[in-house]
Amino acid sequence: MNLDSRLADYTRIVDRMLNQWLPKESAKPTTLHRAMRYSLFAGGKRLRPALCLAAAQACEIRRIADALPSACAVECVHTYSLIHDDLPCMDDDDLRRGRPTSHKVFGEGTAILAGDALLTAAFEILAKTRPTARYTVADFVSELARASGSRFLVGGQVADLEAEGKKSNTATLRFIHRGKTAAMIICSLKLGAMSANATPRALGILEEFGDHLGLAFQVIDDILDVTQSSEQLGKSAGKDAAAGKTTYPAVVGLKASKQEAARLTDKALATLSPLGERAGILRALAKKLLDRQS
Ligand code: IPE
Ligand code: IPE
Ligand code: MG
Ligand code: MG
Ligand code: MG
Repeated sequence: MNLDSRLADYTRIVDRMLNQWLPKESAKPTTLHRAMRYSLFAGGKRLRPALCLAAAQACEIRRIADALPSACAVECVHTYSLIHDDLPCMDDDDLRRGRPTSHKVFGEGTAILAGDALLTAAFEILAKTRPTARYTVADFVSELARASGSRFLVGGQVADLEAEGKKSNTATLRFIHRGKTAAMIICSLKLGAMSANATPRALGILEEFGDHLGLAFQVIDDILDVTQSSEQLGKSAGKDAAAGKTTYPAVVGLKASKQEAARLTDKALATLSPLGERAGILRALAKKLLDRQS
C-alpha cells in the first residue's frame, strides 16, 4: 500500500462526486455557484474525506462508493467553515488554498451565502447515503449536525474568537481545538465507519483516534503558522500572533508545541492497535500529518 497513491485515488473519486452533486456554475444564481466551486475546488488537502474513506476501509467496507456521500458532505462543511473563518469579522484573511479568499473575490455578502449554501449542500448530499444494518440515514445526519453545530465546530470558532487577545491556558486551548477542529475529524472517521456498518466498538476506537489526531492536527496548524511562509501554506502565515490568538505556540512555546504534537500522534497511533493491519492507511496518514509542511 502506497499512501500517496491511495490519497490521490481518494481525492479523484471525491472530486468527481462533488462535481456531480454540486450545482453547475451555469446554474442560477451563477455568482453563488461560482463562489461555492471556487473555494471547493481550490486544491485543499481533502484530509477529512480521506479519513472518512480510510476509516470505511479499516472497517472493511464492501463498496467504497457507499462512503462517498459522507466523504463529500464533510468536505462541504469544512470548506464552508474556511470561507467564514476568513471573513473580516473573523480572522480577516485574504489568502486561502493559494487563492484570494472568497470575500476578496465575490464580496462579503456572496462569501457568507456561499458558505451557507455549502453547509446546506452537505446535508443534501449526506441524505443520499444508504442505511446499513446498524445505522439509519438519520444517524448519519445527526452525527454531522452535532459535529458542525454549536457544541463543536461553531462553538469552537466562537471560543476561538472570544479568547483573542486574552491570556489563556491549555484547558481553554483544548476546548477550542476539540470544537473547531477535532470534532469534524472525528465525525469524518465515524461517518466512514458507519457506512461500513462498523461495530460500536470500532466506532469507539475511531472516535478516540480522531480526538488525539484532531488535537494534533490543530497544534501542527498553529506551529506552521509560526514556522512556514504564506507561499508554502497557501494561506497567510504569522497571523495568529498578530491577532493575539490562543494557540499552542503562544501558550506553551514552539518546542513544547512540537513535543505535544508528537505525543498526541503517538497516542492516536496506539489507539489503533486493536484494528490491526486493517488500519494501515489511517496509521500512515497520522504519521504523514505530523511531518506536514502545509
Ligand atoms: C485548515 O484545515 C483549518 C483547520 C482546521 C486547521 P486544512 O489544513 O485541512 O485545510 P485544507 O482543507 O487543506 O485547505
Ligand atoms: C480554523 O482554525 C478552523 C476552522 C474551523 C475553519 P484556523 O483559523 O487556525 O484555520 P486557518 O489557519 O485559518 O486555516
Ligand atoms: Mg480561525
Ligand atoms: Mg483562520
Ligand atoms: Mg490556523
